[in-house]
Amino acid sequence: MTLMDDTVRYAIDRAVLCWLATVSEHGIPNVSPKELWRVHDHATVVIADIASGGSVRNLRTNPACCVSFVDVFRQKGFKLVGTALIVGRKDDDFEHVSAPLRAIAGNRFFVRNVIAVTVRHVAPILAPSYALHKASEAEMMADAFKTYSVKPIAVGAGFPLHGNDGERRGNDDSQGSV
Ligand SMILES: Cc1cc2nc3c(=O)[nH]c(=O)nc-3n(C[C@H](O)[C@H](O)[C@H](O)COP(=O)(O)O)c2cc1C
Repeated sequence: MTLMDDTVRYAIDRAVLCWLATVSEHGIPNVSPKELWRVHDHATVVIADIASGGSVRNLRTNPACCVSFVDVFRQKGFKLVGTALIVGRKDDDFEHVSAPLRAIAGNRFFVRNVIAVTVRHVAPILAPSYALHKASEAEMMADAFKTYSVKPIAVGAGFPLHGNDGERRGNDDSQGSV
């Protein structure tokens, strides 16, 4: 798959949360959730370090990482595998690279560092039922709404073949509500 094509970028824009997996210098794996993250360019995603000392420590010694995310209702998402650079507040490009993250964080969170992930490989993540049971996205969503005991306020578009910049996270209320 082309790195971070429109579909992947669209999915990231809609994603509520990602999981960042890192490895320590001693080979101990670590994974933790991050909600302050954005596409930076066609090959880079940026994640705000507001409380992720462990991930940052790991990445300073071993830059290999994987960012994964799924739409829990559509039961699909992507894995982004690559390497990360820690951009600190004293670095020249901090202002530029952190701008979209600081915009989301507002004054609720202090962005200590930016975890800038250069994506080298993208792979889709799909619930097995799509292939094994030929389930449709609508069926998967109906199942998930039951599982989570939620009713959608509205159901937006799925992941299209090409991104739709008109529908971004924050304007889309398809995530369901209790
Ligand atoms: C829903 C959720 C979203 C979070 N988003 C972020 C985030 O965007 N950035 C961050 O630094 N920590 C975030 N955290 C907190 C870290 O995941 C948490 O502090 C974790 O223990 C950090 O582990 P690490 O230091 O091994 O990365 C979030 C936690 C939760 C539960």
